[in-house]
Amino acid sequence: MALDDKPITDVHAAQREELLAGLLNPPRFINPKFFYDERGSELFERICELEEYYPTRTEIGIFNRESAAIAATVGAGCELVEPGAGSCEKVRYLLADLAPTAYLPLDISRDFLLDAAQRLREDFPALEVRPVVADFGAAFDLPEASARRVLFYPGSTIGNFEPAGAREFLSRAAALVGSGGGLLIGVDLHKSSEVLDAAYNDSLGVTAAFNRNILRHANRLLDADFDPEQFEHVAFYNAPAQRIEMHLESRSAQQVRCDGALLEFAAGERIHTEYSHKYTPEGFAELAAEAGFHARGCWLDDASLFSVQYFEVGSL
Ligand code: AVI
Repeated sequence: MALDDKPITDVHAAQREELLAGLLNPPRFINPKFFYDERGSELFERICELEEYYPTRTEIGIFNRESAAIAATVGAGCELVEPGAGSCEKVRYLLADLAPTAYLPLDISRDFLLDAAQRLREDFPALEVRPVVADFGAAFDLPEASARRVLFYPGSTIGNFEPAGAREFLSRAAALVGSGGGLLIGVDLHKSSEVLDAAYNDSLGVTAAFNRNILRHANRLLDADFDPEQFEHVAFYNAPAQRIEMHLESRSAQQVRCDGALLEFAAGERIHTEYSHKYTPEGFAELAAEAGFHARGCWLDDASLFSVQYFEVGSL
């Protein structure tokens, strides 16, 4: 069922239940998808423009430099499907060379998606744009494929899944595109802890504001009374696990009212809000291979900060 068929109250009830389940008992956790309310989405856009946050501009640099090579590898005339497409901005860098027959952006924010799709149609009149209001993580229907399908998943959002979740995502992707279908994906790379720590602890404090804003969102969804300023933004690279970890650390012993319950936080106790896994190109290709994807292309920037990788389902 498409997400917009679900009564809003059901969606809210499910979100409340999920949030509360993560918060009630230590170790406490909020799923990073709750970052993206309106303010959180604005803050994320600001993060993408920060000097320290290299992934966005590096990936766009790869698209700009390599779009002809990417198109030659992917092949012309595919049907491009983008989960969590949001503003549909990144695909613009590839459209001229890739020339897909159709572009299907998927997102859960209906109005935002339809506006973005309309802007894309105006700028690329020859492109068939078919927006689908859906959550890639849930069951949804797609119109019958009009051509060989290629899933486009930029931004290293795959890094926000834990390994089991990444495997599940890749398996769903393989099932969706089918034999001969492709996956064009942006994957952030393992690098020095200094560069990574700076990217998630920017000097302007935008990432800290983004992290704390998740508590404002929780306040609205759960009728809770978190004071975001009473929680410290903590982000660091866990090198053995090859992931950035983001947490919110209670500055003092405090109580928070939350959906009728009273949560007791000890000073220094953390709420885990995000992992951002970093890969080597080979390590990611191994993970993708478990889902049946074979590596066909990999493009890096000159400093090997970020990768754009292309895989196909099928024979070696
Ligand atoms: C969306 N995602 C790929 C970002 C990342 O880098 O993991 C989210 C983010 N969190 C803090 N800064 C950016």
